[in-house]
Amino acid sequence: MSGVARFSLEGRVAVVTGGGGGLGSAGALALAECGADVALVARNRARLEESAAAVEAAGRRAIVIEADVADARAMVDAAAEAEATLGRVDVLFNNAGITNPQTVLEISPEDFLRVQEVNIAGAFHAVRAFAPAMLARGFGRIINMGSILSGRGMANRSAYCASKAGLANFGAACAFEFGGRGVTVNTLGATVIVTDLNRELVRTQPELYARVVDRTPLGRLGEVEDLMGALIFLASPASGFVTGQTLFVDGGYTAG
Ligand SMILES: NC(=O)c1ccc[n+]([C@@H]2O[C@H](COP(=O)([O-])OP(=O)(O)OC[C@H]3O[C@@H](n4cnc5c(N)ncnc54)[C@H](OP(=O)(O)O)[C@@H]3O)[C@@H](O)[C@H]2O)c1
Repeated sequence: MSGVARFSLEGRVAVVTGGGGGLGSAGALALAECGADVALVARNRARLEESAAAVEAAGRRAIVIEADVADARAMVDAAAEAEATLGRVDVLFNNAGITNPQTVLEISPEDFLRVQEVNIAGAFHAVRAFAPAMLARGFGRIINMGSILSGRGMANRSAYCASKAGLANFGAACAFEFGGRGVTVNTLGATVIVTDLNRELVRTQPELYARVVDRTPLGRLGEVEDLMGALIFLASPASGFVTGQTLFVDGGYTAG
């Protein structure tokens, strides 16, 4: 393999959970631009259809699957539908996620657990549903959407910090189980990128985000496009000997 073929997803099929959100819609389009057909999974059909239209405009097939990643059965059905319609699944981008900015003493047990159900168990359900066929075919790329908070704590983010650290280590554990069978599992550790997830928090807590910028060597928050090269790398043949890692795309934030 040579040149750009190392990064080609021609003939591949990707599943993007949270495919209607800020990072998921951009990720789906980036994967499509590198050659992949894409199945988009989340709860809001209208937003998924917008992402699907962008994938199709890039010349690739897209399907929309309405499902809650916290529902194990729904993810098994999603895998069956994606395989039946698109023929195979090679790349699973576990990107669906939620946050909760309450303090550890304020957040209710139900709200704390809901963050874990979506952010960690959602990835677990998807891996259980999609990995067996990847293992049977001997090729797969599983990418979990982590965060700088996979490796750091932050006030008022205990549920999110717990979930993103857990998700990264869940991925590392999967990497050991799937090693040698062609399926890699890695985590993307993104810094703050303004999307629907955090737009209101960034607006109402500017001093917090200014502190993030202050300790970032490259001196700014992230932009959606910043993440796409690392996503494509982890989805592509080029990353075949990389597994169990968290790749921080954070302008150097976690280097200090
Ligand atoms: N933006 C950042 O600064 C940042 C930084 C690091 C990591 N991340 C992570 O990146 C991922 C994407 O976030 P984003 O910034 O793109 O946020 P976003 O725009 O709010 O998108 C979140 C996506 O997740 C989906 N989702 C939420 N709960 C779901 C559920 N139970 N089942 C299925 N889908 C669900 C949403 O769709 P529905 O509501 O339609 O289901 C939406 O498509 C998240 O895991 C987030 O933690 C974001």
